[in-house]
Amino acid sequence: MTARIIDGKQTAEEIKGELKLRIETLKRQGITPGLATVLVGDDPASSVYVNIKIKTCEKLGIASFHHHLPATTSQPELLKLVNELNMDASVHGILVQVPLPPHINETQVLLSIDPKKDVDGFHPFNVGKMVIGEADFLPCTPAGIQQLLLRGGYETDGKHVVIVGRSNIVGKPIANILVQKQRGANATVTICHSRTPDIGEYTLKADILIAAIGKPGFITAGMVKPGAIVIDVGTNQVGTTSEGKSILAGDVAFEEVKEKAAAITPVPGGVGPMTIAMLMANTVKAAELSKA
Ligand code: GUN
Repeated sequence: MTARIIDGKQTAEEIKGELKLRIETLKRQGITPGLATVLVGDDPASSVYVNIKIKTCEKLGIASFHHHLPATTSQPELLKLVNELNMDASVHGILVQVPLPPHINETQVLLSIDPKKDVDGFHPFNVGKMVIGEADFLPCTPAGIQQLLLRGGYETDGKHVVIVGRSNIVGKPIANILVQKQRGANATVTICHSRTPDIGEYTLKADILIAAIGKPGFITAGMVKPGAIVIDVGTNQVGTTSEGKSILAGDVAFEEVKEKAAAITPVPGGVGPMTIAMLMANTVKAAELSKA
């Protein structure tokens, strides 16, 4: 049996369609949702991601305010910009693309963002709210994964979810989201990482396997239980086309795993578009909450 392909592009379009209606309502009330993006330095992958975020804002009618700072920007300079964005009423969401250059303390920068404008859900205040199941803003990639499962009709309640990877952006938050006593959650969650011996022993027990480890093709067919749902968060650049475009590979060996899984996300076109859609959703929510 070949796996069903979980179409992140289509689900993201569905979500953006719903957002358009909410954006129109806000505009009738005199509010245009606004997202400020901050990119420090010239990391090519980060530039690509931020550009997609800006373009999606434009398509949906969200005002976009982009700030591209040189890699030499000092911590006080970056904090000053964030503070200005915190005070700016036309900005409802602030996104500082990570990773930041090594001389900048990422935690300090994330702490400086007004939690009401933290559409990435990375501020420790919002991380805490997520952990107790009272989030205003869920981190975008994990929220996108939950929506893919919910909208795709993949039950998580009582299922064993195995996550490979423990990053603050994906692994840790998706574990916290799926363990909640809530719809689209109620899972038993296991987290594996680079110091887990024999990861395959765990992944073979997964009803839902989430790969977010940043190693191309790491999850092979031998590590997957027949009939599992496989979510691939990997976006590893494995080459460049003759036109200079990145060739992406996921963390899952797609061709062999699709013969074993019941459903699988492709790379690209799986989780990636969902991250963007959830960022837009968080920005619209921030604008809606700003009325209160
Ligand atoms: N870097 C990789 N993913 C993300 C994300 O979702 N938000 C931000 N700010 N930076 C990222």
